[in-house]
Amino acid sequence: MSTQQPETQEDDESEGELETTSPAQQQRLEKKRQRAAAREQREAEAAERAAADENTVHLKVFRYDPEVEGKQEPRFDDFYVPFHKGMTVLDALMYARDNYDSSLTFRHSCRQAICGSDALFINGSQRLGCQTQVSDLDDPVRVEPLPHQEVVKDLVVDMEHFYDQMEAVEPYFQTDDLPDDELEEQHQTRENREKVKMSTRCIWCGACMSSCNIAAGDNQYLGPAALNKAYRFAMDEREGADMKQRRLEIIEQEHGVWRCQTQFSCTEVCPKDIPLTEHIQALKREAVKSNLKFW
Ligand code: SF4
Ligand code: FES
Repeated sequence: MSTQQPETQEDDESEGELETTSPAQQQRLEKKRQRAAAREQREAEAAERAAADENTVHLKVFRYDPEVEGKQEPRFDDFYVPFHKGMTVLDALMYARDNYDSSLTFRHSCRQAICGSDALFINGSQRLGCQTQVSDLDDPVRVEPLPHQEVVKDLVVDMEHFYDQMEAVEPYFQTDDLPDDELEEQHQTRENREKVKMSTRCIWCGACMSSCNIAAGDNQYLGPAALNKAYRFAMDEREGADMKQRRLEIIEQEHGVWRCQTQFSCTEVCPKDIPLTEHIQALKREAVKSNLKFW
């Protein structure tokens, strides 16, 4: 249920209500009905006031809970949240949860675009809730879970498949030869650092994967984030030639780089501005080069 008023204790009395015909019980039930009617009236008036108030943000939030009877049907709930300068969509959601409906469920942690846990579908686009200013959005602000992912509850989606695709490209540094002294630094040239710099910024939020039409239609496609991760290591000069070859074999598979149709949707939504399509194209060139044979 959406509301603009904090939850009260009044509902508690409806629990364990007993059927009875005694005058005392009837009186009590009548009082309860009156309180409920008064509460509904207050809520309706508050909703009217909030809707008319320019300093209020109107949120339309996707709700779904497969485990609670009566909440299994997906729907949108309305919340009217007091606006303040600098308010993000995550701030507004937290206000709604803390003041109106404690069952409203969404992920968040760092609140500074670092942990990647609050990627959402906000006004029709994949964005981080903590990075999106309410003042930049049209009203009402529509908040939905990431498309093309299974919804667990409300705004929380199952990220398991995304993590599996990331793991598939072995997203960690591997070299052919380790230095004799394990404390010896393995240097990288400035030029090489520049080349991979943007690819290292990924925060595993899943926004790119959710925006990709190819990933939506092919569940086995590695997807832009995993391919970007493969780029990050395949282009690192400190990785050995054997490992680079192995990485190229991973990304060249049937559901790898060649599935990308350069639609740029991933690049558009990435909150860390990683040029994902460019990186995938670079991997395609590397794959072609490694397959060229000269007789
Ligand atoms: S590449 Fe960008 S959009 Fe994709 S998971 Fe990483 S940070 Fe998120
Ligand atoms: S809360 Fe961590 S990225 Fe938004």
